[in-house]
Amino acid sequence: MAAPNIETIVSLAKRRGFVFPSSEIYGGLGSAWDYGPLGVELSNNVKQQWWRWIVHERDDMEGIDSSIILNRLVWKYSGHEETFSDPLVDCRDCNSRLRADKLTVKLGALMSPQSINYEEALQQKLLACPNCGSTNLTEPRPFNLMFRTTIGAAAEEDDPNALAYLRPETAQGIFINFLNIQTTLRRKIPFGIAQIGKSFRNEVTPGNFIFRTREFEQMEMEYFVKPGEDERVHQEWIDACFDWYKSLGLAADNLRLYEQPKEELAHYAKRTVDIHYRFFPERAEDERQWDELMGIANRTDFDLRAHSKKPENTEGKRLNPDSTEDLSYFDEATKERYYPYVIEPAAGVNRSVLAFLMDAYTERTTDKNETRVVLKLHPSLAPIKAAVLPLAKNKPEIVGMAKAIKRSLQPTLRAVYDDTGGIGKLYARQDEIGTPFCVTVDHQSLEDEAVTVRDRDTWEQERIKVADLREHLQRKLNEK
Ligand code: GAP
Repeated sequence: MAAPNIETIVSLAKRRGFVFPSSEIYGGLGSAWDYGPLGVELSNNVKQQWWRWIVHERDDMEGIDSSIILNRLVWKYSGHEETFSDPLVDCRDCNSRLRADKLTVKLGALMSPQSINYEEALQQKLLACPNCGSTNLTEPRPFNLMFRTTIGAAAEEDDPNALAYLRPETAQGIFINFLNIQTTLRRKIPFGIAQIGKSFRNEVTPGNFIFRTREFEQMEMEYFVKPGEDERVHQEWIDACFDWYKSLGLAADNLRLYEQPKEELAHYAKRTVDIHYRFFPERAEDERQWDELMGIANRTDFDLRAHSKKPENTEGKRLNPDSTEDLSYFDEATKERYYPYVIEPAAGVNRSVLAFLMDAYTERTTDKNETRVVLKLHPSLAPIKAAVLPLAKNKPEIVGMAKAIKRSLQPTLRAVYDDTGGIGKLYARQDEIGTPFCVTVDHQSLEDEAVTVRDRDTWEQERIKVADLREHLQRKLNEK
């Protein structure tokens, strides 16, 4: 079955408690979203899987959780103050504020947004306002995406000494801690540092549900290598990240690698390959169906050099007069000193959650010709692993037994108890939220100390002894 469009997922997400529009009782807040009880479980599972894969299962990785608000100088020397901006245009007819590089070409020309030189296209009046169709647009001007704030109780709003930013990427918190981690953990190159956390960007045109928001979460890792090894290691991480998404159930048909052309590369990047997901299957042109799920960049030695106090060259010009540290690395074995190159796999938690939801969405027709939604999430991502359901909710012995079974499962796997409907409805509800197994307690269970276990994907049922249930479910979850 083809992937559903985002609207189908928005509706399911709200109906079943995955994601709600934020501040809804006050009319919402642009494109802010709140994760509900199922959404927070799903998003936590995505983060846990990523952390386990990239940190726990490797020998060359450390983790970190750095501050969201950093010294302003971090953003000065990283280049964000000067260059972290989007080209902004206004529509002179309807006053819409638009991102020039995301406008599509008028007159139906089938060009990907990536391949358009928007400055030329604007001059030739080829770009149109998506809201009113006008080509009467202003010249593009840079709009810095960092959210500004001020530090300290006495700070005036325009006091430059109090100015600070909410971080627009988690990466810089890693670079400024490179030396702390490398020396305290006695790490040798190559090794990596991973971080999961919130980032903030004052996006010009947020939208498409949780795809582009102003507050979002990132899962980033900076892998430090010897210059010269960077290209090989970069390719290894590209392949590994692509396989990670497939291993958690994303269909290969809905994933592709996208090589960023030179003119699209960030100021620090030598090469960047994005993993694209087919987020917009309803769009007619194939090229516009895809957008970025994660990026894997070769950031060279840009960041460590930029934050270092070390002299840059023989003239002794200091790279960074404000930094107190040199972030170069001394290789004891070869007696060489160098700035490590950095390979950076950077993924969005929210976009990953969206892709996993879209890819898991299926519909199935019952014997009675009713359409059921079955969310075939990978079991490790499913918010609930097992739902324990009593066949008769007015029979205290059955209810008591079902609740006791739920309690016995919950130390090892996320289980819920539900008696708020007939068994058909309860199964349908669990299918729709992706619960791999339903456990039904019936009259017979009181006699034979066994329950019925129903599989979400096959709808097949089998009878399992209560004493073996936990082990049985754990084994089945691992097998799926
Ligand atoms: N440190 C590199 C960096 O931040 P990026 O491509 O700008 O790279 C990495 O961001 C990932 O973060 C993206 O691939 C995307 O999944 C996610 N992301 C970026 N901006 C986002 C936004 N406004 N809303 C949701 N996710 C976003």
